[in-house]
Amino acid sequence: MAMKGNRLLLFFFAACLAGAAPLQLRSGWVYVPGGQDLVAGGLWGCVTSVNVAADTLSIAASSANYNTVINTTGPVLKPQGDFSVLATLSDPATGGSFLSLVGTQATGSAYWQGLKRLDVGRSGSVIQANYWTGTSSSPTAQTWPIPAGVTDPVAFEVARIGTQIEIFANGSQVGSFADPGLFSSGQVYFGFNVSPGDTLNVLALAAAMPSGSGDTLFALDLQVATRTGTGLRDLAAPSGLLIGAAADAPYFSDPNYVQALGGQYNLIVPENDLKFAETEPAQGQYSFCAADQLLAFAQANGMKMRGHNLVWSQNNPPWLLNGNFTSAQAAGIMQDHINNVVGHYKGKLVDWDVVNEALSNSAPYGLDQTSYWYQQLGSGYIDTAFQLAHAADPNAKLFYNDYGGEGLSAKSNAIYTLVQGMISRGVPINGVGLEMHVNPSDVPSESDISANMARLGKLGLEVHVSEMDVALPVNTSTGTASATDLAAQATTYQNVFAACQANSNCTAFLTWGVTDLHSWIPSFEPGEGAALLLDQQYNPKPAYNAIAAELQTASAAAERPVIFPGGVVIHASASAPVSPGTLADIYGTNLASAPATTPGLPLGNGLGNVQVTVNGTPAPLYYVSPGQIDFQIPYAIAPGPALVQVSSNGNPGISAGITVQQAAPSILTWTDSAGNVRAIAQNYPADSLNTSTNCAAPGSYVIVYLMGSGPLDNPIASGAAALSSPVSQETLTATATIGNASAYVGFAGMAPTFVGLMQMNIQVPAVSGEQPVQVQIGSFTSNSALLCVGQ
Ligand code: XIL
Repeated sequence: MAMKGNRLLLFFFAACLAGAAPLQLRSGWVYVPGGQDLVAGGLWGCVTSVNVAADTLSIAASSANYNTVINTTGPVLKPQGDFSVLATLSDPATGGSFLSLVGTQATGSAYWQGLKRLDVGRSGSVIQANYWTGTSSSPTAQTWPIPAGVTDPVAFEVARIGTQIEIFANGSQVGSFADPGLFSSGQVYFGFNVSPGDTLNVLALAAAMPSGSGDTLFALDLQVATRTGTGLRDLAAPSGLLIGAAADAPYFSDPNYVQALGGQYNLIVPENDLKFAETEPAQGQYSFCAADQLLAFAQANGMKMRGHNLVWSQNNPPWLLNGNFTSAQAAGIMQDHINNVVGHYKGKLVDWDVVNEALSNSAPYGLDQTSYWYQQLGSGYIDTAFQLAHAADPNAKLFYNDYGGEGLSAKSNAIYTLVQGMISRGVPINGVGLEMHVNPSDVPSESDISANMARLGKLGLEVHVSEMDVALPVNTSTGTASATDLAAQATTYQNVFAACQANSNCTAFLTWGVTDLHSWIPSFEPGEGAALLLDQQYNPKPAYNAIAAELQTASAAAERPVIFPGGVVIHASASAPVSPGTLADIYGTNLASAPATTPGLPLGNGLGNVQVTVNGTPAPLYYVSPGQIDFQIPYAIAPGPALVQVSSNGNPGISAGITVQQAAPSILTWTDSAGNVRAIAQNYPADSLNTSTNCAAPGSYVIVYLMGSGPLDNPIASGAAALSSPVSQETLTATATIGNASAYVGFAGMAPTFVGLMQMNIQVPAVSGEQPVQVQIGSFTSNSALLCVGQ
């Protein structure tokens, strides 16, 4: 039963991560790798006149002209044989809108010369296909009636199957015709054509192929660095510590920049391109072109990307600052901004700096009251921003980012107090960014930085060194620094890096730029510069070598277990909180380096190379793998907030915060072939599993299995199986309902011979059919699940 629960849960997680499939695939077909969501993943932000909202592309045409947009900078499809493009188009107006697939772009001065293009869409009361073969301005047009029941929006599929082009609407075949070689170039650009006065909303776009064929999506302008295996990212890989840099897309035209960024780093943060004025230059108009290019670069180079930033006192656009908005309007603007920006990158960015630099930089280090957001929304704007960001992408880790509070100081105390308060209010925050813009004579000590990181870790927070640079005095004509200063800079970098390595909750180290050739320091601090790891010729500086050396120390090679946000859940259900004695699962990465052997009873506090503690108390383990650990919350844990920590090979990972309550009743469930979530329950005395065809009669008993018992009259040692004599029963009152009728509970306590499993023997009241069962232990109510009762 345990493994069944695990699999159910894994399936549940995978389904959540993948998101809802936008379109229906034909039987035997699959998405082209990377082609499942080409609305979000199509780099449309760089295509003129396409407005990109969270899940939609919007394209308007003026009343005078068709608006034809072809994405020549984003990904193109390279089909190997049969392929199809799926597009859900909404345009209720009568003019018509089309999916445009271009095989060859125009080669002459007129738009049609050399052009090979196919348009498919709805035009008035027909479905229409037009194609151009490059020799005439007039397309070959075909029309078909709209299939019965098909209304706006229409899910089109345009497939090339053998030598035919076949067109489907909402899954029904509409028509087909012989392909005149429209895609003989071997590639397909994606685009749309909107008739005058219409607005097209593209709700979904995807590319598919028969399973097993080798179609690819090829992003046109993507630069890929050559991997030497000796970059900082490679040296850091065993530990899981991410090595990052602030980046700007325009520099991709320099091969040295591409090589340095993709070869040395495995994390990108846009230096400016995700800030408010960049992403929402006019109210409600979003621009993701540059940041999308950075993301595409990151993906092509096997890197992750973090988001910086959503809410800040700086970089707010004039339309916002000068808009005379009311506070209520400002709240709506912040909400829309976060929804759209985080929504656009949902599932794609590992984390977000949600709020940047909200504290004043002078005593008493309260909230910066000059910020637009403070003035409009008061101190609550920080919590609100995190809640909105979490709702828009529950899988992104959310950070508060600030400067001048890296060591132990009044400012870092203020940051600590701020985030501690957020945690106590249940605000979803996962970490703190320590910017680390320093110079060799003005940098906190390694031990103070380490102590600050450690105290944040005790709150269950990660830290990132988020923007490190070490400014040096430079010769203003050459921009270079003295050898002495470069040596001092190396020591500064090494000390900060060592503090990060010494704290397992320090999960990323980022420099604010890649090379001294491009850094914000010379323009913001005239007379200073040379602040990064690579010089203006992209050669490694002493600081680079110091970090590389630090990465080669033994402790650096240690794996750091990472628990996913929300990754500690009751076993066999996704619910939280847990209670003492509950079996729980941990999801994450690097949790174990070697699979464990099957444990005996009583369960031990270590399995394979893994240990788990809850508030420092070792927990019994019964399953260990690199991505999942199953364990028991020790009975000794008191109700309240608690920290779960995994150690693998003696290396502790960052703690995850959970809530332990006195009892946490959770009925174990299974899903039957009809998709109903049923209680795992035994009919008694028949002694068989309760199913939709094996019901329990009124007056008989069902034995329902669950977790989260609460206090017991005959306590059990952690990790030990429950005894049959004497049994261990609930001390809190246990009640149950089946249907809406209260039901007599004959026994509520631990299931003999099992660890952590409880059972309730419930007498079936006079109800019949498929009915929900739900239990209460003390003041705590369980989930509900179906039982079949009556005859
Ligand atoms: C800086 C950029 O580097 C500059 O290019 C830009 O002109 C201003 O902003 N703290 C932060 C970053 O959080 O966003 C700032 O970046 C540097 C200080």
